[in-house]
Amino acid sequence: MTRSQQGTLSERVTDALSDRDLTVVSNRQPYAHDYDDGEISVSRPAGGLTAGLDPVMQRTEGTWIAWGDGDADFEVADEDGRVRVPPDDPSYTLSRVRLSEEDVEGYYYGYSNRALWPICHGMIGTARCDGRDFERYRAVNRRFADAVVEQIDEGLVWFQDYHFGLAPRMVRESAEDAVLAQFWHIPWPTWDTFRICPPAETIVSSLLANDLLVFHTRKYVHNFLECVAEAVPEATVDRVSGTVRHRGNATTVVAFPLGVDAARIGELAERDAWPDLEARHELEDRTIALGVDRLDYTKGIPERIYALERFFEDHPDQRGELTYVQKGTGSREEIAAYQHLQERVDRAIDRVNGRFETDDWQPIVRVEEHLPKEELYALYRHSDLALVTPLRDGMNLVAKEFVAAQLDRRGVLLLSEFAGAHEELGDDAVTINPYDTQGVADAIDRAVSLSEEERRERMTNLRERVETYDLVAWMDDVLSAALDCREHRDRITSENV
Ligand code: G6P
Repeated sequence: MTRSQQGTLSERVTDALSDRDLTVVSNRQPYAHDYDDGEISVSRPAGGLTAGLDPVMQRTEGTWIAWGDGDADFEVADEDGRVRVPPDDPSYTLSRVRLSEEDVEGYYYGYSNRALWPICHGMIGTARCDGRDFERYRAVNRRFADAVVEQIDEGLVWFQDYHFGLAPRMVRESAEDAVLAQFWHIPWPTWDTFRICPPAETIVSSLLANDLLVFHTRKYVHNFLECVAEAVPEATVDRVSGTVRHRGNATTVVAFPLGVDAARIGELAERDAWPDLEARHELEDRTIALGVDRLDYTKGIPERIYALERFFEDHPDQRGELTYVQKGTGSREEIAAYQHLQERVDRAIDRVNGRFETDDWQPIVRVEEHLPKEELYALYRHSDLALVTPLRDGMNLVAKEFVAAQLDRRGVLLLSEFAGAHEELGDDAVTINPYDTQGVADAIDRAVSLSEEERRERMTNLRERVETYDLVAWMDDVLSAALDCREHRDRITSENV
């Protein structure tokens, strides 16, 4: 099925969505209410997918179920936590699930982020698997599943991410004919890694209650199917079609790599809203290498700084020429591994700056201030290098945003071979192995030495991919695949009548 026009959903998906309800289930909500000087204000938490799904929800008038995170969220909602959004032109329902402190600790910080997150990223040394957290995770998944079942009609339910490893089975038990889809945003590891996560079998088998299970890359699909074969031996796995049959259900397991809203990013970059950074004088007339990350140990930030240190050691001529800008956003700060990361990053930056800085040059500049999107994209646009060096990453949308903002096609993308984005962008990026300090330092040198012509050619190819397979194209693929599943279900039901 091809899309009728770039940037719009196909007719088939649009028609189907206006026909039946869509229920989205995600941990983070698309609108958050907060107290602001005694008044309630509304904000839209960042995140490309949330922003992309919102217009789709507005069209389908469906329901979005998410964690309501604060008193103001519930003050504006009815007694069941439901509020109509968008606030200035309500067209769909946001159904907020209220979580207690213990729920948040066990379900969000605990099983989701201390167990599943590191395990799926292959960082098994960082994982902490506590049965008590799993019980909270189960209880919270039950609450979300109940919220789905309460309002499910004949529509489509779309779960987002690893926070909901158990909810699909719970919904299936009460709504046999529902069409359930899930997008797993993070990597899926091999069975040898995933089995560390107790009870791994329960999660794998619960995900098989979905009609459609989507990952970013073929590698994750391959790993998941291997896990099914090991963990759920009674399931039948067809690796060619990516279909699993289990307990009377057929699950299509497929890879669709999440894209970004390239057109919108381009428009914002075009405004050239160069941020008024405290460190602006450091950047004038210098080569800018940029790193933009949520501060997470999977992103390879200290490792990147070690490589920059090696680069400045090996290339004294680049001191004073190249400045690395680190834009980091705090994340999951209650978890010890995240606190340690912050300390490691600070120590590494201070060491490199202490070794090499001069009166008029600082090798590494931290951007602490919040940047509105148009300023961030101006920074992307005018950076010469983007250092996207995760140790492991489901996709990494920074890589794609950088490309989308590169209107002048002068920048070079350095990309970790362990980022999901590498499957699509690897050929025209400079590939690095983030664990290889010398290799990354050499790659930075190679990137700054590329001719203008080669940079332009690589960036042209990258832009073509990112613009063609954008967020809407991705959404259209996922929703079309979900509709195929629904047709399959309808066919079986009519054959059985
Ligand atoms: C990753 C996950 C998302 C999550 C985001 C931010 O990208 O796949 O589901 O929302 O990190 O993390 P947080 O824990 O703050 O929601």
